[in-house]
Amino acid sequence: MSTALITGGTVGIGHAFAKHLAAQGYDLVLASRDEAGLLAVAERFTEMYGIAVEVIRADLACREDVLALAERLEDPERPIDLLVNNAGFAVHASLLDRDIALHERALDVMCLAVLILGGAAARAMKARGQGAILNVASSSAAITTGNYSAIKAWVAIYTEGLSNELRGSGVKVTAVLPGWVKTEFHSRGGVKAHNLPDIVWIDVDRLVRQSCRDLERGKVLSVPTKRWAFMVGLAHLAPRSVIRKVSRALTKSRE
Ligand SMILES: NC(=O)c1ccc[n+]([C@@H]2O[C@H](COP(=O)([O-])OP(=O)(O)OC[C@H]3O[C@@H](n4cnc5c(N)ncnc54)[C@H](OP(=O)(O)O)[C@@H]3O)[C@@H](O)[C@H]2O)c1
Repeated sequence: MSTALITGGTVGIGHAFAKHLAAQGYDLVLASRDEAGLLAVAERFTEMYGIAVEVIRADLACREDVLALAERLEDPERPIDLLVNNAGFAVHASLLDRDIALHERALDVMCLAVLILGGAAARAMKARGQGAILNVASSSAAITTGNYSAIKAWVAIYTEGLSNELRGSGVKVTAVLPGWVKTEFHSRGGVKAHNLPDIVWIDVDRLVRQSCRDLERGKVLSVPTKRWAFMVGLAHLAPRSVIRKVSRALTKSRE
């Protein structure tokens, strides 16, 4: 029986990963701040899929909580076969803000926690000669919409670096770069998204299926759906001045 640890598995993309993996027979370790939400998901999935679900209340902006999760990842008695570094949120803040609390939390949760948990999982998996790590980045990594883009570009490049260090070890590493997905992400982060055309949205279950398929195939960067793969590919070919212009327009449309 394999076990997957998912950060932020109570709602949204993380919950969809949890459901998909539970249906495949994975036991789960779910970590987020919402203990009641975690217990409710655990009860539902145990009943629906007959799997074991462990829950860990953790705030990934808190170093102590992240280190406790890292310890769980490296526990030789209870190996984790798949880590999904998913937890995250929108960073709807200016780079000129004097108060950098939101930026700091975003860097803690979406960069430092990913680095610490990815390193712990990689050490344990490399020693066993098998395992997989999936980091949730974003298609925003291909544009320049403030700190969120910078953070998600870091996640994508970090993943490529990690895959280099793990090459030949039997451990697979993938960063998934989704387009827009209907979750709590936008309402929680105060990002205007209701006026976006249907064409930009990706079905969350489709996103999860393709990411898992790409991880299995050893694809290091996964952009779910052909439409978004085309858009991200185009962004990489476009002059940087065009990317900055598009990003300015996008940022303005959300205000
Ligand atoms: N939705 C999109 O359009 C989209 C597109 C591209 C990439 N992404 C990325 O996908 C990932 C998941 O986002 P989502 O769309 O599923 O958003 P969501 O529905 O708002 O879910 C976010 C999850 O992250 C967890 N989380 C947030 N801050 C945390 C913290 N400090 N400690 C522990 N857990 C924390 C939340 O759990 P608790 O609140 O219970 O702690 C929740 O389970 C993020 O990394 C996001 O950047 C989203």
